[in-house]
Amino acid sequence: MEFTVLETAEDVAAAAAADIASTISDGARSLVLAGGTTPRRCYELLSRLDVEWGRVTILFGDERCVRPDNPDSNYRMAREAMLDRVAPATVHRIPGELGPDEAAGLYSHLVSALAPLDIVLLGVGEDGHTASLFPGHPALQMKGWAIGIRDAPKPPPQRVTLTLPALRGARRVIILATGEGKADAVAKAKRGEVPSGMIAGARWLIDREAAALL
Ligand code: 6PG
Repeated sequence: MEFTVLETAEDVAAAAAADIASTISDGARSLVLAGGTTPRRCYELLSRLDVEWGRVTILFGDERCVRPDNPDSNYRMAREAMLDRVAPATVHRIPGELGPDEAAGLYSHLVSALAPLDIVLLGVGEDGHTASLFPGHPALQMKGWAIGIRDAPKPPPQRVTLTLPALRGARRVIILATGEGKADAVAKAKRGEVPSGMIAGARWLIDREAAALL
C-alpha cells in the first residue's frame, strides 16, 4: 500500500481525477466507480478533463439494492456528477433493484468477462469498509467476482459488492479518504485490520485530516 497525503479534500479529488485521466490515456479501458460522497467531487473534475471516453467501459464496485433513480443509488450519484456529461463507450450499472442475489449473479458474469479490471476507485467508511465489504463480515471470505449482501451495517442493508479477490486483481486500485472521521479507519487499514486495508497494491490518496493517526 502506498499513502499519498495531500492538504485538502479538494486536492485529493483533483489528484484522483488526474490519475484516472492519465491512466486512461496510457491505455486503461475499464473504470470501476465507487459510491458514497467522497468520490463525487472527483467525478465532477474528471468530467472536465480531456479523456477519450469512447474507449472507456464504466463499472461499479458496489451498489445499494434500490432503483437507479433512488437518491441512495451509487449509479445515480455517478450519473449526476459525471456520466450525464461524458460519453463512455458503455456504462454497466449494477441492477440492484433486482435484489442482491440476482443482481450479483448478473454482475459476476459481466465482471468475469471484462477482468482484469484496469482502474478501481474506492472510498472508505468510518469503520474501514470499502465497496460493500464490511469489517468481520463473512463476505470477506467469498470468492468469485460479485456477491449479494443482506445485512450491511450501513443502510441500506441490501447491497451488491465486488469481492476482495476481484478488487485485488485490478491493475490499479485508488482509495480515497478525506476528513477527520476517516482517520481511525485509515490507521486501521494501514495495519491491515479492516477490509480497505486488505488490498496490497492499493494507492491511497488522503487529506491531512484523514492522515492524522498514521
Ligand atoms: C457505498 C460505498 C461505500 C463508500 C464508503 C465511504 O455504497 O456506501 O461504495 O463503500 O465508499 O462508505 O462513503 P462516504 O464517501 O460517503 O464517506
